[in-house]
Amino acid sequence: MQPPRLEISNIVKDFGGRRVVDDVDLTVMPGQVTCLLGPSGCGKSTTLRIIAGVESQDSGTINVDGKLVCNGAMSLPPEQRNIGLMFQDFALFPHLTVAQNVSFGLAGRKVTDRVHELLGKVGMASHIDDYPHQLSGGEQQRVALARALAPRPRIMLMDEPFSGLDDRLRDDIRDETLAVLKSEGTAVLLVTHEPGEAMRMADEIALMRDGKIVQRGAPYNIYNAPVDIQAAAFFSDINVIRGKVEGALTDTPFGQFLAPGVPDGTDVDIVIRPQHLKIEFDRAGRGPSPTPVEGTAARGVVERARFMGASSLVEFRMDFDGSILKAVVPSVFLPKPGMPLWLMIRRDRCFVFAKE
Ligand SMILES: Nc1ncnc2c1ncn2[C@@H]1O[C@H](COP(=O)(O)OP(=O)(O)OP(=O)(O)O)[C@@H](O)[C@H]1O
Ligand SMILES: [Mg+2]
Repeated sequence: MQPPRLEISNIVKDFGGRRVVDDVDLTVMPGQVTCLLGPSGCGKSTTLRIIAGVESQDSGTINVDGKLVCNGAMSLPPEQRNIGLMFQDFALFPHLTVAQNVSFGLAGRKVTDRVHELLGKVGMASHIDDYPHQLSGGEQQRVALARALAPRPRIMLMDEPFSGLDDRLRDDIRDETLAVLKSEGTAVLLVTHEPGEAMRMADEIALMRDGKIVQRGAPYNIYNAPVDIQAAAFFSDINVIRGKVEGALTDTPFGQFLAPGVPDGTDVDIVIRPQHLKIEFDRAGRGPSPTPVEGTAARGVVERARFMGASSLVEFRMDFDGSILKAVVPSVFLPKPGMPLWLMIRRDRCFVFAKE
């Protein structure tokens, strides 16, 4: 089996006595996109800068293709690491043409072929003699990608590379970039604080918080099996229903939930995303009958309903304790405030977390 393209182990970095990167392990396989995802200030860029070699770690090792790049004792300079970089404030050389930007730093006979190949891949072949100021933001981004890929880096490090682009353009450029990176077989470590971007781009997401990787996995797994309530909340709005465990079960106004392995008397949070609540009509003060899949219905009154295009976001004030629960429903449904409705919770879509 081939070794990971990139493998970092036990990376630690302090700034002014504060631990900013705290024992981080990451691996990226060839042709794979790993997203380092986390809130602002959690240490993503610092981790990337250490891998690139423009910042040094306090301890820990980095291997590329199974070969040591740096540890406490030695460190290859950035230019010998065979790593491509693309940052948000990527700057093309303003006085060079598109072709000259892409070929900058390349040597050898095949340079022209490589430049044409890459500009073809990023859809910029017709702009080969243009200067950067003649290009739109998205076009400049494409050229920057071609330039970063030109020397055939083993690994591409990308730090929020799409954040300067407007929404519609960003989706297209993300998809195009992904296609080009896959066709080149490059291993990619992409930093972002946007869960949507990570889910769209990543084969694997590494969720980072306060300098630590708190969870790693495929987007589907991270979204559907978060390790804790913060991990759940990072990906969408959440609803929280409180309960206390008795005999591995917790009783709530929505019926009983399983809490396997949680000791009696423990307070738990039952977490459910707004799109996994089901709404039923009120029939003369009565709700639907309980089912094994959706439990017991609880009544609430519509506090606010917002039309959001493909869906509606409906906020309910619940009869049982006056708390607010949010449901996302198809936008054909837009109830008026004050309307009583019943909510049910999809058992298979809720997460039960013991309180610390
Ligand atoms: N050179 C430095 N000296 C001192 N503190 C630093 C330095 N570089 C980063 N930090 C601090 O380390 C923490 C992590 O910074 P980092 O840039 O890695 O965060 P980030 O996850 O990339 O955030 P963002 O999403 O906002 O870019 C921040 O609190 C930052 O202020
Ligand atoms: Mg950053």
